[in-house]
Formats: sequence, structure tokens, C-alpha cells
Amino acid sequence: MWKGRFAVETAELVQQFGESISYDWRLYKQDVAGSIAHAHAQREAGLLTSEEFDQIENGLRQIEADIDGGKFEFKTSLEDIHMNIEAELTRRIGPAGAKLHTARSRNDQVATDTRLYCRAEVDAISVGIRSLQSALLDRAEKYAATVLPAYTHLQRGQPVTVGHHLLAYVEMLDRDLGRLADCRKRLNVSPLGSGALAGSTINLDRQAIADELGFDRISTNSMDAVSDRDYIVEFLFAMSLCGVHLSRLSEDLILWCSAEFGFVTLSDAHTTGSSLMPQKKNPDVCEITRGKTGRLLGNLVSLLTAVKGLPLTYNRDLQEDKEPLFDSIDTLKLTLAVNAEMIAAMEVREENCSRAASDPMLLATDLADWLVKQGVPFRNAHELVGKAVAESVKTGTPLNQLDLSAIDPAYTSEAGSVFDLGRALAARTNPGAPSVENVRSEIRRWRESGL
Ligand code: ARG
Repeated sequence: MWKGRFAVETAELVQQFGESISYDWRLYKQDVAGSIAHAHAQREAGLLTSEEFDQIENGLRQIEADIDGGKFEFKTSLEDIHMNIEAELTRRIGPAGAKLHTARSRNDQVATDTRLYCRAEVDAISVGIRSLQSALLDRAEKYAATVLPAYTHLQRGQPVTVGHHLLAYVEMLDRDLGRLADCRKRLNVSPLGSGALAGSTINLDRQAIADELGFDRISTNSMDAVSDRDYIVEFLFAMSLCGVHLSRLSEDLILWCSAEFGFVTLSDAHTTGSSLMPQKKNPDVCEITRGKTGRLLGNLVSLLTAVKGLPLTYNRDLQEDKEPLFDSIDTLKLTLAVNAEMIAAMEVREENCSRAASDPMLLATDLADWLVKQGVPFRNAHELVGKAVAESVKTGTPLNQLDLSAIDPAYTSEAGSVFDLGRALAARTNPGAPSVENVRSEIRRWRESGL
């Protein structure tokens, strides 16, 4: 493609080192669409005849069909997807093919292709997130009233329901969707026409090209347009944080399916056995999810690091954006799909949850609240309940069976009424709190939002 200036061929090792076709072939559909839009604008500008345009369009469509069908031979010597397609087009249609690259550089071309690719994948990943939300919501509905302890510091805190716990993840995933939608707005901008870095002396209708490709607007600074990779960084960040959320969910489930907790059973189809210990049933999907989150974070840091020292404008370092991008997309899509399937089939062991939730210590805060309602200042109430807890720990008498009045006269005979788990939960009616009624109305709200 640049033979005019060079006297010898690119060294074999340099070709191997610099090629990106082994992975950027994935951009072929975007590359074809971008080239057709560009050719349209060339025809409108009188740079191509209608016949030449038709040859280019048909040629590109055939190349696309050949790649679809696995019949296209990619050449490492042609470096990347852009040059592979252009060279083959010219080989097939002759002189018209050689006109296609007028007023265009691979720099604005690759930025266009990658933005189009990211746009499609943001949408696909959003669908994946919705499916997982929907699986979580179904389980939340089934177990809306199943009480279990909630933890801080992994120590038993207060009672909630399984529904409430699972809805917390629906919320996190919803913020992930918001971040993706936001990232989509910034990435849906057309760089085509920015050329190598300073546009072109040949004027094409940039807006028409952008419209044809479904971009919201055109970029407004050619130097920024060819060297900006913010949109990929943002996308990688949104995927990383989504991964972090899935990793936290995994950790909850790993704990919950241990014998020590025994709160859930994952289906045989989504767990694995041990080659040595016959009794084992391992939550590998959760562990792999937790592990893959490391890759997502690594990919984000890789690109941030690649970009941080680059002078304007395009530098070849930027070619290193694609492997992390593709890897994160593949990783997250599969992770979302397998988790959605696993959650849909997950069963909650309600009797174990109830047993754990029946620990009267979970209602120690409720006892302090009861004292407050009798007029005791909260700090004093906290101390009085603390004394009762210490007594319970020392004597081994459950908190709800202690003679509280012996600890302080503020405890009247009514104090024991606090230890009714159903009532305790029903009293948590503040917006966002876990009463069964609240959880059901949250589930309705999510359903109405389309889940
Ligand atoms: N394969 C290259 C990339 O991914 C395309 C742009 C190459 N531009 C250049 N001036 N060498 O970044």
C-alpha cells in the first residue's frame, strides 16, 4: 500500500509483530459499511461515477459475504482488516477500487469501525444484563418473603428477605445499564472525514456519511477524532464495574452454597464435581466469574496505560486497544449468559434461611428501638441492649429468653414482644427497607419497567 517510498519489503518479523488482522478481522462488517457510506459521499462529490460506485458497493458486499461464509483468505502481509478488504476489492474490480481511499486514512477509518463495533456490542451487552436482571427478579419474586440474615463484616446483622437481597443486584445491574447508555451517547459520533489527522483538501459530506452509518453527530476536531480512545476506555470501565458486581454476587453465592450457610442449591447443571472427593459439588461458575473479573479490570488498565503517554495524534500503540476490547466483550457476554442461566435454576433452601434468621440476636437493634419508643435515649438504649447481649453470651441463654427486667427496669414485660420475626420485618416499611410488602412493590416496579 505504500510501496512508492520503500526500496525493500517489510521484514517478516515486523509483519508478524505489527499485524492485527488475526483479531481485527472482526471489524469487517463495520469496515464494509463505513466504506460504502464513504463511497456514497464520493459519488455525490463527483469523485466516482455511478458505475464505479456500483462496482465498489457490489465488490464490498461480495467480500462481506465471503468473510461471512469463511471463504475469504486474510493476508498477514496486508496488516489489518482495512487493507485486506481494500486490496482484495481492487484485485476484484480494478481501478474503481483504487479510488476508494480518496479523502480517507486508516486513522479515521479504524476509529469509525471501532465506534460502530462498540455501539453494537454496548447494545448486545445491555440485552445480556437485562436477561440476568430478569432471572434475579424471578428468583426475588419466588423468595420475596423468605427471611434470612443480612450481614455486615460477614457477621449477622439484621433480618431481610432473599427477595430484598437479590433486588440489590438488580439495582447494581441497572446502574451498569445506565453507564452503558451514557457511554453509547459519547461513542456514537462519526470521525470519518478526519483523515490522517487534518481532514482532507477534498470535501466530502461528513454529515451524510454519519447519517448513513447511524451516528448522532460528526466529530468536531480532526486531531481529537483520530487519537481519541476515551469511548473504549469508558466501555471497558462499564464492563469492569459490571464484572465487579457479578463477582460480588458470586461471592455471596459461594458462601450461600457452603455447608456452613446452606442457603441455596445450585443446579447440577451449573456445578462441577471433584475427580477425587466423591461428595463434592462445587460452585465453579461463581468462582470463574470472580476470576474473570480480574481480566476485565486488567483490560481496562492495559488500555489506560497504552494511551497515557501518547502525544497527539495517532500512534501505532493505539492498535493495542482491540484485543482488550474484544476480550472484555467476549468475557462479559458469556459471564452474563451463564450467570442468568444459573440464577434462573437456583433453589433457595428456605428452612435453612429461616433457621439462621431465627437467631434472636438479629433483633437486638429492634430491642434498642423498642426502648427508644419507651422514651429511653438511643445511646442509653444501645448500652442496655449491649448488656443484655453480654449476659446472653456469658450464660448461653438466648437473648429472647433472658429475664430482661433483671438487667434494667426500663425493660417491662412488653419487651419480649420484639422477638417476633414476622412483626420485626413487617415494621420495616420505610422506602427501601425490606418489609415483604416493600419487596413486592419493588418487584412490581421492576416488572412495570419492562423486566
Ligand atoms: N490497524 C491499525 C489500528 O488498529 C489501523 C490504523 C493504522 N494507521 C496507521 N497509520 N498505521 O490502529
